[in-house]
Amino acid sequence: MKRVQRLPLRAGLLGGGQLARMLALKGHEMGLEIHVLSPDPRDPAAQVVRHHHRGDPASEADLKAFFARVDIVTFESEFMDAALLGTVATATRVPVHPRPEIMGRLQDRLRQKEFLESRRLPTAAWREVSSAEDAEAAFHAFDGELVFKKRRFGYDGYGTYVVRDRAALRRAIDAVESDRHGFIAEAFVPFRREIALMIARRGSGETATFPFVETFQERSRCLWVKGPIAPRARGAARLPAKLAAGLDELDYRGVMGVELFETAKGLLVNELAPRVHNSAHYSLDALTLDQFSAHWRAVLDLAFGEARPLAGGFAMYNLLGSHARAPSWSLPANARLHWYGKNENRPGRKMGHINGLGTSPGNALKRLTKARAAFDV
Ligand SMILES: Nc1ncnc2c1ncn2[C@@H]1O[C@H](COP(=O)(O)OP(=O)(O)OP(=O)(O)O)[C@@H](O)[C@H]1O
Ligand SMILES: [Mg+2]
Repeated sequence: MKRVQRLPLRAGLLGGGQLARMLALKGHEMGLEIHVLSPDPRDPAAQVVRHHHRGDPASEADLKAFFARVDIVTFESEFMDAALLGTVATATRVPVHPRPEIMGRLQDRLRQKEFLESRRLPTAAWREVSSAEDAEAAFHAFDGELVFKKRRFGYDGYGTYVVRDRAALRRAIDAVESDRHGFIAEAFVPFRREIALMIARRGSGETATFPFVETFQERSRCLWVKGPIAPRARGAARLPAKLAAGLDELDYRGVMGVELFETAKGLLVNELAPRVHNSAHYSLDALTLDQFSAHWRAVLDLAFGEARPLAGGFAMYNLLGSHARAPSWSLPANARLHWYGKNENRPGRKMGHINGLGTSPGNALKRLTKARAAFDV
């Protein structure tokens, strides 16, 4: 058993959103001294730590000052200046995990597709799009049913354009022409359902795989998750081992969110996220190992233990803003609330989530859907 060298270990988190908040809360439970770098002391993660460092994770000076105060660094979002992060990590000799080079590779949809293909992980057919002509060519190549995605900085469906007619193509072309990072276009996948998987790998090479879950997206945004499920698709059983081999090649340390499409022909990887992921928030209350603790364990090279469901079924329901008024609620009896403490409610904004257990995935989701009614968000 490996021991942490310095206690308390000072663990740095870049970013102050809800993912950083939940990482901070779980880090505290493990005895870590959590430091957060974010612009505003009212940020969700800043609210729950004693060591908030006000600053901009995009600024070299702020990063350097922050790195000088911590022993190890991780992040809640892959959309950072990976090269700058690498430079600061080298200069200060403070390790960043997952490594900045990996962040740089996976934050770009095109380079991510190349990585998936190099590992023979099945994914939807795609091509590069950097001009109106490329977009027209893709429209023809994919028979007028395709999805344009920003190469960088796309999240929660922002930056994703489903195109089925010329009017939608026009809108996508406008987006392509006004974004300097470029796009990829992907064949539209007629999926049966969307599935996700969380996999963690630590420095020693040990991996932990969470159960497959079904995720439901409304307007490209995750609404609920239920599990555990068994994908009805070829290749599902082999997928975790193939992913683990890919993480070995990267010498990856951390959790990795894997979004999948279940199709009649098999599973396709939609997207890899080198961080904790909305689709695994259920694990806070439904598994013997939650994704936030698993991430710290991976980063610090500590044993994972089992990731086993605590009930026959579990579910997670996102509390998405539907108006700009202050939210209100009465605490539901059969759900665990995780509120993010955001300063402002907005339509579509992730304000919190609720988790619940049940006798089956469907039963857990049904109970949570009822519990959701207690919230005016
Ligand atoms: N090729 C496709 N065919 C059909 N639907 C798709 C395709 N690509 C994406 N979608 C739909 O759009 C959603 C968002 O796409 P994607 O995950 O690639 O973007 P994102 O902006 O990173 O979203 P998020 O941050 O929620 O993961 C998917 O969950 C899916 O519902
Ligand atoms: Mg996605």
